[in-house]
Amino acid sequence: MLKLSIERVSKQFGHKRALESITCELTEGVYGFLGANGSGKTTLMRILAAVSRPSSGRVLCDGEDIGLMNERYRDLLGYLPQQMGLYKNFTVVKFLLYIASLKGIEKKKAEAKVEELLQIVHLTEEKRTKVGKLSGGMKQRVGIAQALLNDPKIIIVDEPTAGLDPKERIRFRNLLSSISSERIVLLSTHIVSDIEYLAKELLIMKRGMLIQKAQPQQLLEGLTNKVWTILVRPEEISTLQARHKVSSLINHGESIMVRMLSDYKPDPRAEAVQPNLEDLYLYYFDEEAEK
Ligand SMILES: Nc1ncnc2c1ncn2[C@@H]1O[C@H](COP(=O)(O)OP(=O)(O)O)[C@@H](O)[C@H]1O
Ligand SMILES: [Mg+2]
Repeated sequence: MLKLSIERVSKQFGHKRALESITCELTEGVYGFLGANGSGKTTLMRILAAVSRPSSGRVLCDGEDIGLMNERYRDLLGYLPQQMGLYKNFTVVKFLLYIASLKGIEKKKAEAKVEELLQIVHLTEEKRTKVGKLSGGMKQRVGIAQALLNDPKIIIVDEPTAGLDPKERIRFRNLLSSISSERIVLLSTHIVSDIEYLAKELLIMKRGMLIQKAQPQQLLEGLTNKVWTILVRPEEISTLQARHKVSSLINHGESIMVRMLSDYKPDPRAEAVQPNLEDLYLYYFDEEAEK
């Protein structure tokens, strides 16, 4: 089984330390990198995609340093960068054939592959449309199609659902799930619902560090007795908000149901409830998310 080993990877930009000794192992399955903006997700993904090199540490693919594998690593890899330049005036099919030629795929093979991928990403009808005229979701699907041209065993997608509407997000998620078997899929996002059911493991990044790596269920169990609901009068809300992280407020007639995080029972009336990933996100990222 394919294995990526990240060994004490750090990245320095001038005085800025963007990654701080990241160590972990990834095998087949979908991994969700979660973290606020600036936590280092893109920096790490660029290193894993061999677009950028670590300042120290290394990444091994089945025991070999990816920095030394060159072409052999690129042949295994499909990468959808956070900001992907699409050639606006190319049609979808022309763009994909162009990328295939850059990847060194022989023409006949590329043509067949492009047709197959257009079906997988549901863009067959748009194949003659200029890329510049596509919706955000369609562009992202072109992006994933280009990443899949070489049948990669390692797929890296950086914030693929940013800017997509909920329907497009669901579609993208289903697409990733359908291509994930026998592959390593790395996906970064700051939207929890993108990876709620998709990810085998969540990797939580904060200020350049990997602070958690576990199955979603395990992370949620860590929040047991930390998520509470309490029914209060509207005038009580500001006091609660000042003391605790509030994850939701729901109107209940004259009263309001407050859902909040607290390491202890925040009020005699409070009841512990089942944690969800939104709570988890708030638990780790609240302060950063507000910046
Ligand atoms: N090329 C660069 N030069 C200087 N600082 C950078 C560069 N790229 C990223 N950074 C900094 O590194 C940190 C991590 O950024 P990034 O990896 O883009 O985070 P994320 O993708 O989680 O939002 C941020 O503080 C960012 O400003
Ligand atoms: Mg990023």
